[in-house]
Amino acid sequence: MEVIAIGSDHAAFELKENIREFLIESGYKVIDMGTDSSRSVDYPDFGIAVGEAVSRGDCDRGIVICGTGIGISISANKVKGVRAAACSDPYSARLSREHNNANVLALGARIVAPEYARSIVREWLDAKFLGGRHQKRIQKIARYESGDPQWKQ
Ligand code: RB5
Repeated sequence: MEVIAIGSDHAAFELKENIREFLIESGYKVIDMGTDSSRSVDYPDFGIAVGEAVSRGDCDRGIVICGTGIGISISANKVKGVRAAACSDPYSARLSREHNNANVLALGARIVAPEYARSIVREWLDAKFLGGRHQKRIQKIARYESGDPQWKQ
């Protein structure tokens, strides 16, 4: 069973609960990393927590949600090995898997309605990395991230 870690800030608490239910109904195991209410919190706490869970291999993939999906994706992307994609439509979500092998999906609760968010998540979960020419490009990102001065070669 595929394991998905999920986290949000207060602005996205309700959508995070909705997506958690959707994941469970769809047969995924979910690690809920908070937040647990609409009380104001800081999105980096949750973006980085989910990113670290992905990076450690505690889960297969992660989903992070804040008001826009921007702050929490920037945060998750600071964790080594994380490729977080902020998506507000199903096509971008699919391509973020097929081309970028995104291991974290970021959503904006103030950007997408809950039903549409579910369709974005569904597309992202079902899509597979295509490899090939795309592999070499994500390898460049990884080599840069590791401090390899020859990362472009
Ligand atoms: C919180 O008000 C908001 O700034 C946050 O959810 C997010 O949209 C940041 O990128």
